[in-house]
Parts: sequence; structure tokens; C-alpha cells
Amino acid sequence: MVKIGVINVSDRASQGVYEDIPGKEAVRLLRKYLTTEFEPVYKVIPDEQDQIEEALKYMADEAGCCLAITTGGTGPALRDITPEATEAVCEKLLPGFGEAMRAESLKIVPTAILSRQTAGTRGSCLIINLPGKPKAIEECLQVVFPAIPYCIDIVGGPHLETDPIVMKAFRPKAK
Ligand code: MTE
Repeated sequence: MVKIGVINVSDRASQGVYEDIPGKEAVRLLRKYLTTEFEPVYKVIPDEQDQIEEALKYMADEAGCCLAITTGGTGPALRDITPEATEAVCEKLLPGFGEAMRAESLKIVPTAILSRQTAGTRGSCLIINLPGKPKAIEECLQVVFPAIPYCIDIVGGPHLETDPIVMKAFRPKAK
């Protein structure tokens, strides 16, 4: 079974003050885009770099996730540390993901520039940061999703299929 990690990074959600709405929104979108069945592997953790790194390593190395999505902690606030944790655990960084999400999001909201979201790979797992706002999760994920299945192919993960009516995956033709 394909596994996809969803990590809500939020001090307040991890204390039970807020419901895990960002995590649920990420899974809703994954189910909307993907026709491949998958099992979500959830975590809700505080904005602590060591805990974020540990959760990302767990998703990639132990749970066998081909994709791990984080929500929250990408901004300039004092406690925001998700991109640093992501960079620390990734073997290869894929800055294009953050660049594309910011560029498209800037057409919607001027404060999109405040997100330092990034992406990268650890082994066969693609890790992508998303902002914490549910609206921003959809605005960002839909921008980069067409490239996700091919990226996972390249790093040796499972073949993911999307519903082409709602999300067309792009796979370049063989040379
Ligand atoms: N991107 C999109 N597409 N839509 C948004 O509403 N909000 C921004 C930005 N990116 C936003 C967005 C705001 S206000 C902030 S502070 C940053 O994401 C960081 O959010 P985070 O700290 O929840 O990760």
C-alpha cells in the first residue's frame, strides 16, 4: 500500500487547542487528485525543529512514505522552523517547488511572499512544505502537484496515478 505522510506543524494543534484542520485538508486534496489508493500517516507536532526532523525521518525511513507533506511553520514568525527542519533532513533540495508556489500564490495574496516553504528528497521520499492555512494548502498544492508523480518515479517510489479530470500529472516522454 502506498503511504503518504501528513505532518501538521502547529504548537496549538499539537496541544489540542485547535483541531487538525490543515492535516485533514491535505488528505482531502490528495484523495481528490489521486486515483492510486494510499494510506495517510498522520502526525501533529509542535514547532520544534528536532521534532519536525524526527517526524520527517520517520515518514521517509520507517513508515516508507513516498511523499510527506508538512503544513504550517513556513512563515517569518519566531517559532516558524519547518523549512529549516526540512533542509536539515533532505539529501537533495528542490527549491523550484517553493518558488512555483510563491509565484502563483502571489497572484492571489500579497502575503504569499512571507512563506519560506521548500521541498526536497530524502531517499525515495519527496518532502513538501505547505503553509498552514487550509485555503493556502489548496492554492499551493494544486500548483506543484502535476510534477509530483514524476518526481516520485525518479527517486524510485511507487507509480502514482491521478484523476486527469481534476489533476493532470505530467510525465515527460522517454527520449
Ligand atoms: N499562500 C497562499 N497560497 N495563500 C495564502 O493565504 N498565506 C501566507 C503565506 N502563503 C498564504 C500563502 C501567509 S499570510 C503566511 S504568514 C505564510 O504563508 C506562512 O504561513 P505558515 O506560517 O502557516 O506556514
